[in-house]
Amino acid sequence: MITHKKLPNGFEYIEVKNRAAEAKIAMQGAHLFHYARADEEPLLWLSEVSDFKLGKAIRGGVPLCWPWFGFNEDKSLPQHGFARISMWEFVCGKEIDEKTSSVTFRLSCNAETLKMWSYRFELKLHVVISDKLVMELKTTNIDDREFKITQALHTYFKVSHISHVNIEGLDKKPYLDALTYKNELQKGDITFNEEVDRVYQEVDGEIVLRDKNREIHIKNQGSSSVVVWNPWIEKTKRMSAMNEDAYEQMLCIESANAFDDVRVLESGDSHTLVAAVF
Ligand code: BG6
Repeated sequence: MITHKKLPNGFEYIEVKNRAAEAKIAMQGAHLFHYARADEEPLLWLSEVSDFKLGKAIRGGVPLCWPWFGFNEDKSLPQHGFARISMWEFVCGKEIDEKTSSVTFRLSCNAETLKMWSYRFELKLHVVISDKLVMELKTTNIDDREFKITQALHTYFKVSHISHVNIEGLDKKPYLDALTYKNELQKGDITFNEEVDRVYQEVDGEIVLRDKNREIHIKNQGSSSVVVWNPWIEKTKRMSAMNEDAYEQMLCIESANAFDDVRVLESGDSHTLVAAVF
């Protein structure tokens, strides 16, 4: 079933339910903020104190960072771009079979976006919900000049406890440590005992998030960079919409085009960033 719903404060979202899984995607930001397989714990983390307010990104789920990842040189512009705080259009929903549904959202350039980024574009998010979650973010340049984008499907995973998890698949990959701005090389799996904020480069294979009682696989396409982030104790205290101990239950593995992995789109070109989670 695909239903258009509203929270008591008027915040709108699309709810998808089928025999294999359920998901909720907000109209603001085409922001997927819930995904769970039937009879399983949610895969994605959502802050207990997240605001569902217009103009503010939801804390958790999968914010869409676009058309820039991180800060803009112009500090008056929003961190991680404007897509996650813009109102999207719901294009269509399909029930493919009993266990598979898909939904498509669109963001087109408009007077507001042109003020922040002067290019004409069309952005589409296509999500397939089954026992696997597949997200495809397609950018089309409808301007008459080239543009450059950085972006991310900024996925927050729910974990049993941050000290129980490790990430496989990034061994020997170079990364930019966003805390020191130094280039480093990953040795072995990633484990967590302090703040981590890294942009891995040259990523091609599958990434596995291993937790106490489950493992989550992430496979990206159209991307060679992956951001791994946990704010740990001090940064969490400074973050909006997060409880002080929230860093213990979450971890971001972001399917990205970030740092050196900038994508240049000529007029008429498209680029699709895909993350499959299973
Ligand atoms: C991550 C960045 O992608 O997003 C972090 O690497 C940042 O540095 C985090 O803190 C959250 O950003 P925001 O804008 O959602 O608070």
